[in-house]
Amino acid sequence: MDVQQPDGTICNIGMERKLNEPCSIVIFGASGDLTARKLIPAFYHLCKEKLMPPAFRVIGFARREKTDESWRQELRAALDQFSRTKPVDEKVWNEFSANLFYCKGDLTDPAAYAKLEQQLNSFKNPQLRQNLLFYLATQPSQFGGIIDQLCKAQLLCKPEGSQGWQRLVIEKPFGHDLASAKTLNNELTRYADERQVFRIDHYLGKETVQNILMFRFSNSIFEQLWNRESVDHVEITVSEKLGVGDRGGYYEEAGALRDMVQNHILQVMALVSMEPPVSIEAESIRDEKVKLLKSIRHLTPADVSRQIVRGQYFAGTVDGQTRPGYRQETKVKPDSNVETYVAAKLFIDNWRWSGVPFYLRTGKNLPMSASEVRIQFRPTPNVLFNALCDSKLDPDALTLRLQPNEGISLRFNGKVPGMSLGVRPVRMHFSYDSEFGAYTPEAYERLLLEAIAGDATLFIRRDEVETAWQIVDSIRTAWQNKPLTNREFYAAGTWGPIAADELLAHSGHAWHEPQVIK
Ligand code: BG6
Repeated sequence: MDVQQPDGTICNIGMERKLNEPCSIVIFGASGDLTARKLIPAFYHLCKEKLMPPAFRVIGFARREKTDESWRQELRAALDQFSRTKPVDEKVWNEFSANLFYCKGDLTDPAAYAKLEQQLNSFKNPQLRQNLLFYLATQPSQFGGIIDQLCKAQLLCKPEGSQGWQRLVIEKPFGHDLASAKTLNNELTRYADERQVFRIDHYLGKETVQNILMFRFSNSIFEQLWNRESVDHVEITVSEKLGVGDRGGYYEEAGALRDMVQNHILQVMALVSMEPPVSIEAESIRDEKVKLLKSIRHLTPADVSRQIVRGQYFAGTVDGQTRPGYRQETKVKPDSNVETYVAAKLFIDNWRWSGVPFYLRTGKNLPMSASEVRIQFRPTPNVLFNALCDSKLDPDALTLRLQPNEGISLRFNGKVPGMSLGVRPVRMHFSYDSEFGAYTPEAYERLLLEAIAGDATLFIRRDEVETAWQIVDSIRTAWQNKPLTNREFYAAGTWGPIAADELLAHSGHAWHEPQVIK
């Protein structure tokens, strides 16, 4: 633990374990979008920040014919487009790109893995041959086959039989229901230990999402209020201005429930509501998240019809631009019943949260892109100011703004200056930008670094993923074979179907639009 830095940082926890050993990273499915848009820019920035191990190699494994040089050129063009800092620093790029290699091969061909092994063996430093991070950016149906081949080629071994370390990084979607997630988990852990599997949920790589635990457990004032005694309800909104665009094919299989709720939103909810972990080690934190997910009240089909709202956008306008309806998007069936919006009212049946509704919502083609958690406190008793204001006093609220305009706001009532007794909500606000400057690393930078360091805190454990599917499956099954009704459509550019407003209105609540913070 370092003590007191010049910038006022009081301590830097766990820096010693972040001293990364030399390793090679193999990306399967390297021709895909993810490599160009996210992975390579993330590695480039890690190099720029001097956070990569002292020696490393990145090998792109894919079917297309390419040379090391042509792959580098292609990635350079992509970096110019997708890098979060521009222009690309030539010196950093030259150093970084000298470590990029391409391996042409078919994922099902044993000879390709032999070639990969040869390539790894050509690296002089033994750690570059033994410490291997396999990034599976392919279709989930290919995961099992890749792992099988890696084992046969003895590139992937369980920790006890291995020199160095080998890890698997897996992208979502992690299965499409509980049964398929279990099958996938079984395939992964047939040859690898659970400790070697790093399942990505990129929300956990976001600074503001990591800050949820820091905020809750490094301060004494908020945690005392974090319970059913003080909190009236919690709202979690992840709204997106974009429609499904060219991802219609994928989205038809996923829908908002699988795409956003099963992973990102339940993860945020777990972090907001879990009990304090016994330590900050990965397993302690993940234990608490699983406990929380398991405490979410089971939904019967009748509960689903009362507590869960789905929606699908029809044509409308967002920011003055005309948007087609979901059913008119490319690769979408003209009579599709896939949901592009979900709102849910969930209860956590534990001591802390009993009876407190958690309202979650997410959707595409909404008026604003914003992710935030709003903790709405109980109203004051109906005496004094509240009584004089006919119970119209705004209850206090704490908003954790996850993106954009990252920050935290506390809203409370104050006296309007003047001779009369005017009451008005006012706000105290912490903004990341003004406090820390515009340091906004991409989630993937953090996640890749953690996977290289072998710290699984920001990755999803097997039981976590399976418990989340259990919750989502109960909703999905209740929706099956039920076409959308008129009440479930919303115009692009609006805040979702009317049914979502009614969901809260039944309990005397209303959605709060994410704040526009300047
Ligand atoms: C992805 C979903 O996991 O998260 C996308 O597949 C969604 O549909 C995206 O747009 C949202 O991520 P972010 O970081 O932009 O909030």
